[in-house]
Parts: sequence; C-alpha cells; structure tokens
Amino acid sequence: MKVLVVGKGGREHALTWKLSQSPLVSKLYCAEGNAGIERIAKRVPIDPLNLEELASFAQKEGIDLTVIGPEAPLVAGLVDKLESKGLKVFGPNRRASQLEGSKVFAKEFMQRHGIPTAEFHTFDDPQKAKAFIRDFGMPIVIKADGLAGGKGVFVCKTYEEAMQAIDRLMVQGALEEAGKRVVIEEFLEGEEASYIVMLNGDRYAPLPTSQDHKRLLDGDRGPNTGGMGAYSPNPFIDEAVELTIRREVIEKVIKGLKEEGIEYRGFLYAGLMLTSKGPKVLEFNVRLGDPEAQPLLMRIKGDFLKTLLDFYEGKEVSIQQEERCALCVVLASRGYPEKPEDGKPIYGLEDAEREEDVILFHAGTETREGRFITKGGRVLNVCAWGSSLMEAREKAYRAVQKVSFEGMHYRKDIGLRGLKSAL
Ligand code: AMP
Ligand code: GLY
Repeated sequence: MKVLVVGKGGREHALTWKLSQSPLVSKLYCAEGNAGIERIAKRVPIDPLNLEELASFAQKEGIDLTVIGPEAPLVAGLVDKLESKGLKVFGPNRRASQLEGSKVFAKEFMQRHGIPTAEFHTFDDPQKAKAFIRDFGMPIVIKADGLAGGKGVFVCKTYEEAMQAIDRLMVQGALEEAGKRVVIEEFLEGEEASYIVMLNGDRYAPLPTSQDHKRLLDGDRGPNTGGMGAYSPNPFIDEAVELTIRREVIEKVIKGLKEEGIEYRGFLYAGLMLTSKGPKVLEFNVRLGDPEAQPLLMRIKGDFLKTLLDFYEGKEVSIQQEERCALCVVLASRGYPEKPEDGKPIYGLEDAEREEDVILFHAGTETREGRFITKGGRVLNVCAWGSSLMEAREKAYRAVQKVSFEGMHYRKDIGLRGLKSAL
C-alpha cells in the first residue's frame, strides 16, 4: 500500500523509518521531508499547510493511508480535507485538534470533565491580566492561547517577567492572534512526563512512556524550545502512576470527547506534571511529540503500519515494547530557538551512523551539491539503544562526538534526571 507521512522534522523521519519496515508498504512518500527522509521515502514538495494541494496529490497518487506529524496542518483541518475526498488518514480532525490549537479550549474542556490541571484564568484584556497577576503572586505561568511552536509559554518567577510577558503577547502582539488571549495559571512543581496514546473513539492504546527536555540549556535553564532531547521509558511513570494517568486523564478525555460529540482518531499526547497531589495536565498535543517520538518509536516492536491500520479499523491492538531503553540528543543550530542559522555544512554523519546501536534522524537538513547542510533550528537527532538508560546515553553521546557543523550546540545532560531517579 501507498503511505504518505506529512511533516519534515525528526519525528517524521522516525515515523517514516518505522513505517518503512512494514512489508505492507509498496511506496512511501513524505511531504515535505528532509535530506534524511529522502533516503527512505519519496519527497513530495508540498507545504504541510497547503491542504488543497496535499489532498489532490493524495487522491491522484492513490494514497492508502496518510499519517500527519505536526500540529499546524491538524489544527488547520488537513484531516477534514482528506476525509472529504474519501481518503484514509490517521490524525484528529480540526474540531478535535482544538485540544492543542487553543489552550483556553483545552483548559475549559479539562474543567468541564474533571481532568486534573493547574488552576487558571483566561484574559483578553492586558490591564485585567496584570491586575490579576498582582493579586495572585509569584511564580505564575502565562500561556498564549493559540499555537506558538513552543514559544508561547512563560514561566515567570518575578513580577517584572510576568508584566513583560503580558506586554509581549497582548500589547506588542509578538505572536499575533495566537497571543491576544492568554491563560494565566498556577505554577506546578514536580517531574514532567509525556504520556502518549493512540485514540480511536472509545479505544486507546498506550505507547511507550517518554520524557522530553524542553529547556535550551543544561540543568533546565534558558528558554523553552520544541525539545532538546528525550528518552524512553520514563522511570518516573511507574505502574501506579500510569494507572492514575489512564484513569484520571486519558479515560476522562475519552468520556469528555464523547459527551461533547467530538470524534477523535489519532495520537493524543498528555504533557504532565507529576505533582505531590498526583499527575496534572500541563497541555495536550494532538500528535506525537518531537523529539519524544524518536526514542518512543525505537522501542515499539513489530509492524507499526499493521498496528495503525488495525487500530484505525477499530480493532483492539496492544503495542509490544522493547526491553531496551532509547535516548535522543538534539543537535541544534546557533541561534535556535530565536533565529537559527542555515546553510552550514554537516560533517561526520557516516561516522556517527557506524557506531553500534545508533541511529540518526534528520530534522533541519538539506543537501547541496551532494553534501548535507543545515536548514533550521533543530538539525539532527542522534539516538541510541541501550540495555539501560545509562548505556543508551553513553552510546548516543559517543556518536554525537563524531558530528559537527558550525555553531552546533546540544545539551549534555539528556537522561540524567531519569538516571538519578533510578539510583
Ligand atoms: P506547555 O506548552 O503548556 O506544556 O508548556 C511548556 C512548558 O512550560 C512545560 O513543559 C513546562 O516545563 C512549563 N509549564 C507549563 N505549565 C506549567 C505550570 N503550570 N507549572 C510549571 N511549569 C509549567
Ligand atoms: N517535545 C514537545 C512537543 O513536541 O511538543
């Protein structure tokens, strides 16, 4: 069968890699892909937000299944568009994607259905927001309502930071419409965890647990990014915690969606804070995380395309997980996340790939005259398997040493928090 993956990052490279192993695939396409994806799938030069063109391509080519990686096309309604042409697609429709597309919608949904989350208020007037912040006290978290590619959340420790965030979003309009309305919420303390499932109506199938490292710098310092590394499994999610997450979050979401008549078919990602009072939802994503998808997909056994198809058809599936751990280190360009540089030649990819139990997933890469160059903020995901998190970490970092490009930077502490918890 013909399969189309939509997106161009590390997550989509990992998805394409996993799907390419299925004997059911006759042809694999990726729109728009990157230089790594190009080695295993045919690249289609259509922007993921060009819904009309993507739908005509899928129809003309006779695509049997489309899998969508990023949030923007989901929120824009790519699923609705493809389904209107009778095409099969794994991903939530536009209405369901509001769980990620609007923080206000997500918070109100959680409130309506008793899903544990931080206390919050929403504002569309900066003066009222500021007055509220004065009364509430510090620390406080300010979130743009709309999609912001990881740049719309401000964890403020001081009053000045909070005022600046309000001015940036609501007065200067730094994120345009996405920041005109904000959610202001209570600061939660604990360990962060990502819990991702596949959802289809009443059914869900949990994927391996993972943890992301969102801040730019070691020791969880610096600004938030899309994610600088991840690993799987997440040792903070033990059996008891997992049961609570399933009962208090996932199953309540399913019930809530049903009550509101919202159909949902696709991945659902709960970004959680494991607090002393139990897991609380920081956010929902309507897709796999990037880079969480990389280690997570590395730990799924068997034919993932077959699993997806069975699940799509409404069958019960159970996802078998490898015992081995997996870890991913993101190599980023100078200037990421604000203003990443492009066009730098990349060295040492083959050497890195020769390392044992290592796999590289490309993100912002292109080729120029047959050589790999950087194009974008997050450039490469250097990933490794290991019998323990420690071993996966050592192997991944050994491979990182082989790669270089001008301005390359990465976090040195991916996985360390997880290791500490295991001691
Ligand atoms: P979000 O996009 O809502 O997941 O927020 C991005 C990041 O900001 C999260 O991964 C957390 O590190 C942090 N964050 C968000 N909400 C809170 C909160 N209520 N308390 C503490 N940290 C938060
Ligand atoms: N790594 C977090 C995300 O994909 O949103």
